[in-house]
Amino acid sequence: MQGQRVTIRFSMSALFFKRFLKRPFQIASIVPSSRALVERVADKIDFDQARVIAEYGPGEGVHSREIARRMRPDCQLLLFELDAAFSRDLQRQFRGDPRVHVINDNAAHLPLELRRRAIDACDYIVSGIPFSILQIDKKRALLQQTHDALAAGGRFIIYQVTNELKQHAKIFDRAESEYFLQNIPPMFITVFEKSNGRNGASHLSLQESRASANNA
Ligand SMILES: C[S@@+](CC[C@H](N)C(=O)[O-])C[C@H]1O[C@@H](n2cnc3c(N)ncnc32)[C@H](O)[C@@H]1O
Repeated sequence: MQGQRVTIRFSMSALFFKRFLKRPFQIASIVPSSRALVERVADKIDFDQARVIAEYGPGEGVHSREIARRMRPDCQLLLFELDAAFSRDLQRQFRGDPRVHVINDNAAHLPLELRRRAIDACDYIVSGIPFSILQIDKKRALLQQTHDALAAGGRFIIYQVTNELKQHAKIFDRAESEYFLQNIPPMFITVFEKSNGRNGASHLSLQESRASANNA
């Protein structure tokens, strides 16, 4: 942007940096997402409609805090974080919020966790895990599970340095990407949408798809 200065705000986190030094491939970044990226990702969620949101790889919780701040009192947020130190810190941060559940486990265990909690499906799944380093079979299996765990019309939102996941995610009916520069490094934000099951159309809002399910 010529003549324009772009300021990118990060919360410099000692914990984040320490965990990166411990497990560089799993954490995959030395700083958390920027404030601008967090807001852009949250803007893609319809908080009036969302009742169940899952997040893969919340890290120190920069997206989780914004999602929890915007979500309804009757919405649940399931946080899947592999790293034990991050999980402990998330537990501490959300101790007073019964809507938020911290699960110190692999995102691949989402279906199990939904069954355990008698939750039918998620309206949104947000992911910050480094998909690009997963082996192809694990990547495809996680994508399939993610698709299956979403309600009709539900959305899977990812932010990634590369957009390579798009080629593996053909099970979704629609995908829309943007290249977001206000983060270091810049990220692709992609929203994958699951069909609402009616003639393969996927453009209806969650409200419309819920209403049609209720009338069925
Ligand atoms: C790049 S960091 C993103 C952190 C945070 N979401 C952000 O935007 O600043 C990736 C996070 O995903 C976690 N992670 C990696 N693979 C995972 C998996 N399979 N299941 C759950 N968490 C995972 C890592 O431990 C790390 O906290």
